[in-house]
Amino acid sequence: MLHEIEHEAIAHGDPAPSCCMVIFGAGGDLTKRLLLPALYNLIRSGLLPEKFALIAVDRLEMTSEMYREHIRLAISAFASDKHYAQQLDVVNLEKLLNVIHYQQGDFSDSKFYQELSEKIHDIQKSNQIQKNVVFYLAVAARFFGSIVEKLGVAQLLKESENSWRRVIVEKPFGHDVESSKVLNLELRKQLHERQIYRMDHFLGKETVQNIMMLRFSNAIFEPLWNREHIDHIQITVAETVGVEKRAAFYESTGAMRDMVPNHVFQLLALTTMEPPASFSADAVRNEKTKVLHSVHPINPERESVRAQYIGGQRDELPLKGYREEDGVSEASKTETYIAMKLTIDNWRWAGVPIYLRTGKGLSVRQSEIAIQFKNPPLSIFKNTNLDALSPNILVLKLQPDEGAVLIFGAKVPGPKFEIGQVHMDFHYKDYFQNAPSTGYETLVYDCMIGDATLFQRSDSVVAGWEIVQPLLDYWKKDDAYLATYTAGSEGPQESEELLSGSGRSWRRL
Ligand SMILES: NC(=O)c1ccc[n+]([C@@H]2O[C@H](COP(=O)([O-])OP(=O)(O)OC[C@H]3O[C@@H](n4cnc5c(N)ncnc54)[C@H](OP(=O)(O)O)[C@@H]3O)[C@@H](O)[C@H]2O)c1
Repeated sequence: MLHEIEHEAIAHGDPAPSCCMVIFGAGGDLTKRLLLPALYNLIRSGLLPEKFALIAVDRLEMTSEMYREHIRLAISAFASDKHYAQQLDVVNLEKLLNVIHYQQGDFSDSKFYQELSEKIHDIQKSNQIQKNVVFYLAVAARFFGSIVEKLGVAQLLKESENSWRRVIVEKPFGHDVESSKVLNLELRKQLHERQIYRMDHFLGKETVQNIMMLRFSNAIFEPLWNREHIDHIQITVAETVGVEKRAAFYESTGAMRDMVPNHVFQLLALTTMEPPASFSADAVRNEKTKVLHSVHPINPERESVRAQYIGGQRDELPLKGYREEDGVSEASKTETYIAMKLTIDNWRWAGVPIYLRTGKGLSVRQSEIAIQFKNPPLSIFKNTNLDALSPNILVLKLQPDEGAVLIFGAKVPGPKFEIGQVHMDFHYKDYFQNAPSTGYETLVYDCMIGDATLFQRSDSVVAGWEIVQPLLDYWKKDDAYLATYTAGSEGPQESEELLSGSGRSWRRL
């Protein structure tokens, strides 16, 4: 039986409390491209603990000096990325590099954890760092259970009144209902739920957090946020890229598993949940889980479309089809696009269709949530019937252009009574100086200060898989239909048909 110890969350904006962070998989892609640049941004913003050390674990043989050099190059490379566009801050970069220690080892070997324990202890002692530790598992999901088990056996997850231990795991959190439950059980054998931080970097994006701010800090939206006023909702996460170098991963994953139970359902939950009792982690996560539990079972045949991209073109340049990509089987049935219609069985949303679509190889990169309002009950303008009125739409733009747009009708100047659609536009970049973050800064900092609001809880993960499980089962059948769409297009025709039966249509990408 694990002994429960509560630790108070620290106020946002203060430097995080003194701790060590141990990254497993420190030589990998995620660490290099996102995690270390995020730590660099945190040190620049004064949010990293004053007494801090990073212990980088990987199997490559190298010294701390060699690893620091590797990181210096990585951060310099990503500093030219648009997210890190400001000049490299050499002072803070050096400050960060100085607290990085490399520990070579094989994390599947139990003996390694004794060495790690000693290393952590030595670093804590010689740098007067408190006993708090974040373990970041930047490794494939199949290792999560065994690493946590070994950390537990080595007493590395043991907390005290004055110190905490937390573990961050990266998605995917299982590949179906069963495996997500198994993973939860494996983690819970050694950890309390509150020690587990399930990272979905989408939730760290300012615009995703802004969904809650927009809904619950502005009195004008919430009264309209229900079946009386909303006709339907469209959630789109569209990517232009194909599978790139991730074919091995994608072939066994596909668009559904990769995007829907995690990113897309988190957007769905934030958009449709009831107002939480407070902004505390559990109050928010209770509401998100509750709304996922209210999703009506989806009919796979009538309410979902899966598709795969075939050769096409963009800007007159040829684009490969999915089956022509390196590492993809010529007979692959993996979907690269998924669209579905769902409804929510509660009083707020009964009868309001919600359409979701996500895919690769599409015409543009665009993530947004579009709330389409109902038309007025009657048109009083001559020669203008209700169908000709353009609907009011509130579009929450998540990427690449972050902000919100309210679309409404206005009179076209002139003697005739003509209505034109106009846009009231808010762009984050016009109002706030901070560059949009990749999401990792916020989430790593939140974990250090003990705020789990933006991390997924075990019941919410399982609830997501439960919604998609009937579709996964249905698609296992040999004759389950797989549509196609041309790379560089807006997706398959079949996806349009999901809406057209009810007289609705997708917003153009
Ligand atoms: N990359 C992304 O953009 C991204 C985005 C979102 C989520 N994620 C998730 O983040 C996690 C990490 O992804 P990644 O792309 O960074 O993976 P990766 O590039 O394969 O990194 C994993 C690192 O761990 C090392 N490693 C593997 N087995 C080891 C062992 N037994 N002992 C010590 N080190 C070992 C690997 O070394 P070898 O190279 O020698 O195997 C590699 O350096 C995954 O769960 C992934 O799903 C990644």
